[in-house]
Amino acid sequence: MTAATSDAFVFFGATGDLAYKQIFPALQGLIHADNFDIPIIGVARSDWNLERLRERARASLRAHGGIHRKAADKLCRLLQFVNGDYNDPATFAHLRECLGKARHPLHYLAIPPSMFETVVKGLDAAGCARGARVVVEKPFGRDLKSARELNRVLHRFFDEHDIFRIDHYLGKEPVQNLLYFRFANSLLEPIWNRNHIASMQITMAEDFGIEGRGKFYDEVGAIRDVVQNHMLQVLALLTMGAPVDRSSDAMRDEKLRLFRSMRPLEAGDVVRGQFDGYHHEPGVARSSKVETFAALRIRMDTWRWAGVPFFIRAGKRLPVKCTEVLVRLKNPPQQVFDGVPGDGAVNFFRFRLSPDVVISLGARVKQPGEAMRGHPVELVAHRNIRAARAPYERLLGDAIQGDSVLFTRDDCVEEAWRVLDPILGNKVPVHKYKPGTWGPKQADALIADAGGWNDPRLEPPPGNGK
Ligand code: BG6
Repeated sequence: MTAATSDAFVFFGATGDLAYKQIFPALQGLIHADNFDIPIIGVARSDWNLERLRERARASLRAHGGIHRKAADKLCRLLQFVNGDYNDPATFAHLRECLGKARHPLHYLAIPPSMFETVVKGLDAAGCARGARVVVEKPFGRDLKSARELNRVLHRFFDEHDIFRIDHYLGKEPVQNLLYFRFANSLLEPIWNRNHIASMQITMAEDFGIEGRGKFYDEVGAIRDVVQNHMLQVLALLTMGAPVDRSSDAMRDEKLRLFRSMRPLEAGDVVRGQFDGYHHEPGVARSSKVETFAALRIRMDTWRWAGVPFFIRAGKRLPVKCTEVLVRLKNPPQQVFDGVPGDGAVNFFRFRLSPDVVISLGARVKQPGEAMRGHPVELVAHRNIRAARAPYERLLGDAIQGDSVLFTRDDCVEEAWRVLDPILGNKVPVHKYKPGTWGPKQADALIADAGGWNDPRLEPPPGNGK
């Protein structure tokens, strides 16, 4: 394990999309907030030079959050560029020179996974892997087999403690608040189980399409793009047991137990959809059966969760952009008053993760008057519109410090793939849906017994029998 703070930041794929959208803005943020001051070395195979990379960095900052002049100037000053083929040892020899006295570089692989092996071998051969950390981007493999293979390759050169698998959802403030709210309070734990919770659902709706990422997206689809990682991580934070402490292994041990308890999915647990017009997106195959929408039902075999259904719905070109969790509680055992809706519409917890942040509890109160009639209210525990530190900035800062608590461990990644593996590919048919709708109607049947999908635009949510 490398305990030292990284003393150089290397990013492969320096001319690419991820560097442009996330890495330069995150670096500027780190320089501004933490006075980050180590060599920053971009590596790419292109005909660019350092000046062009600096221009790109400035363009990236202008487009994503704005330029902070002092920090942007410093970023450009710290920046170096290694231009070369990843198969050529000379590229890595040049990188070694640029690293100078650095003994604990951090290498960020912002490149397709198919290139990982070549790059880590090149790093090792040039002596750049010793004492180093490596950051890899999702998707971590395409299925269980390829994830194991990827882990095997990384482990040949890096200790697991020095491998940082980025899932930017874990760097989001409201996602961290799920864990905090659950375990910093004592009020949830007594009811956070099968005795009181009827169901949980997570919706990750996006009102846009694939925005020029057709080639990438058509090899991936919604399940691999956001369910295997972001959605299962959110579900784990909502359902795992209390960690023994805040260490990264304590957190990840609990997540692992949880993932292990999830049943592998069967075809009947999944509905896949594709929006009309997807085939015409640049980079997408005309005959593509890749899903742009997925709805899933998950079961966990634990004393805490036996019999409780968990639902995930994620899709592109849906009516809104919103990510929200709805936890429906069972109704009181006896109906004393009239007009009370079914399970889940009386008491619920809402955790809205974006675009705004809300934690609230649904309840009923009596309406004034003679009759014992009520109406729903929502008690808001937390509402926040203040922008937090951007997830990439937070996560890269943590990786540089060697803090892996917000990163995914090898065994957790593999367990998550184990759950999804049986339904990947075209084992489940894909249904068309119209852009601007909530996906194919088959998705409604999946959750009909649990009160239906919640429309995040409605407050409060509908429930059974309403
Ligand atoms: C990415 C996916 O990981 O997450 C995208 O590749 C998706 O398809 C994005 O749009 C959503 O992230 P956020 O932070 O905008 O909710």
